[in-house]
Amino acid sequence: CGIVAIIGNKPVATQLVDALKRLEYRGYDSAGVATLSGGHLDRRRAAGKLVNLEAQLNEQPLDGTIGIGHTRWATHGAPTTNNAHPHFCNGVAVVHNGIIENFSEIRQELEARGAEFHTETDTEVVAQLIASLLESGKSPEEAMQAAVKLIHGAYALCVLVEGHDDMIMGARNGPPLAIGHGSGEMFLGSDAIALSPFTDDITYLEDGDWAVVRKDRLEIFSTDGLPVQRKRSKASVAYAQVEKGNHRHFMEKEIYEQPEAISHTFAHYMDFVAKTVRPVAQPIDFASIDGLKIAACGTAFLAGHIGKTWFERYARLPVEIDIASEFRYREMPMTDREAALFISQSGETADTLASLRYCKENGLKIGAIVNVQESTIAREADVVFPTLAGPEIGVASTKAFTSQLAVFASLAILAGRARNTLTLEQESEMIQAATHAPRIVGSVLHAIQPQLEELSRELSKYHNVLYLGRGTSYTLAMEGALKLKEISYIHAEAYAAGELKHGPIALIDENMPVIVIAPHDRHFDKTMSNMQEVAARGGKIIFITDEAGAAASSMKTLSTVALPNVDEFIAPLVFSIPVQLLAYHTAVFMGTDVDQPRNLAKSVTVE
Ligand code: G6P
Repeated sequence: CGIVAIIGNKPVATQLVDALKRLEYRGYDSAGVATLSGGHLDRRRAAGKLVNLEAQLNEQPLDGTIGIGHTRWATHGAPTTNNAHPHFCNGVAVVHNGIIENFSEIRQELEARGAEFHTETDTEVVAQLIASLLESGKSPEEAMQAAVKLIHGAYALCVLVEGHDDMIMGARNGPPLAIGHGSGEMFLGSDAIALSPFTDDITYLEDGDWAVVRKDRLEIFSTDGLPVQRKRSKASVAYAQVEKGNHRHFMEKEIYEQPEAISHTFAHYMDFVAKTVRPVAQPIDFASIDGLKIAACGTAFLAGHIGKTWFERYARLPVEIDIASEFRYREMPMTDREAALFISQSGETADTLASLRYCKENGLKIGAIVNVQESTIAREADVVFPTLAGPEIGVASTKAFTSQLAVFASLAILAGRARNTLTLEQESEMIQAATHAPRIVGSVLHAIQPQLEELSRELSKYHNVLYLGRGTSYTLAMEGALKLKEISYIHAEAYAAGELKHGPIALIDENMPVIVIAPHDRHFDKTMSNMQEVAARGGKIIFITDEAGAAASSMKTLSTVALPNVDEFIAPLVFSIPVQLLAYHTAVFMGTDVDQPRNLAKSVTVE
């Protein structure tokens, strides 16, 4: 979900909706705006997409020059108009991202004192609480200060108070809140992308901060009400980067940006002339640690999975990896001779952040692979390993994934050198292979696009799909299944090819397409045997391999996609492309909302 707020000199409703559009990528299912005009609050809200809200505003415009807006991804209460933000209570308007964990206790207390609630949301509690504090005689600032002490949980908040047309109050604990400085106007937003057309002059609130924003002044306070200073800096997001250009969807654009994203990321870590990886890991000392813990969510987790394979293979470094929501509750043994890596495009995913804090408490050194360098996860890490993918807008992660792989490839080489498990010659060969990766990815993108579009037309006719692979191709099978599910809504599952005979083979018949990912590597012959087992049972095979693999196989397939032969080290980068294109084109054939698939959010700041 997303938040925006503007205090300016002309009516702000249209600007608020435009800023909300730039936050659409985060996923939402209802939206609303409120403005203050002549001392009075008024709002428009609508379930569904922003066009519904715009239609309402066209019929009944709002003319306030100070306002707040919100796109909501439902947590407590269905995505109805009534549950949409802003929430009002006796002259107080609130928009909120996150979850107020003690909302039911506060609600009971307020109800016991006569308050009447109108929604099922946790957010209304904040509006009611601030209103009751104002009624008890507090000023808006005093009420805000008292409220942030009483509420527990994760929140980014913006608050308007009737009779106070000169200020917006904001607060942050968890989800980010950026304050944009304009000339004679000020802005608040969930991220710098939302504010990019207005200003790139940004102050981020830190956890526990609350702020009073006026047209010409910003005051920030700690939870205890003491004034604090926060850094003002230039946002790195260029407005042009968040436009679709000639592409139908952001996802398509981002798929095609991968040669550049991978190349920028490699160039950050590798010295192509000296053929070495730059020493960027301090204070993580790969030579002396006994093991690495990795946690992340979704596609970032799958990048970590490939990272594990590389660290173990090339640096002989044991890696324990889990999805972040499981990782943090496992109570696994940890020692300070281990380090931990967290991977996150947004740098704000709540479960990943909680896992990071858990490892920090246990004394581990923390590394973060993030795409948003101003993010919370980046700030809390001991060392940040940036991916240089640029803003990623499509909910389904593509260029962030391959850039994460590029970081892992670099770090695995670095660790291999530190641990004396790679020779200088091997390091230089691996870097040589990495140098070619962006060009090969670029040529694959163009070469296989027509074939995959055709295949996707076929795939869109089925209700279930199975993906198989071994080694890093098993991880790509998982990534393929995840992508297909999330954007085309076709049920897809991934299995390690060797595990097929232990269960999923029962599913195979002529209605079950099976996508086999198998470059001609050391797993190839074994995977071929598994493919035979599928063929013998009438399964329809889509075979994603390389030229050597295609030549070595005589099996009848529905289709064989032959990529160029590449060094095994960079194969996961190259084989990501067919997996992404297949999901993308299938979703286009299915007519789904590719960039904002139903029920999904880009940045999940709740646990
Ligand atoms: C959400 C997104 C996924 C993403 C995951 C982790 O579920 O829809 O695309 O992989 O979060 O996000 P992060 O920002 O931590 O990489």
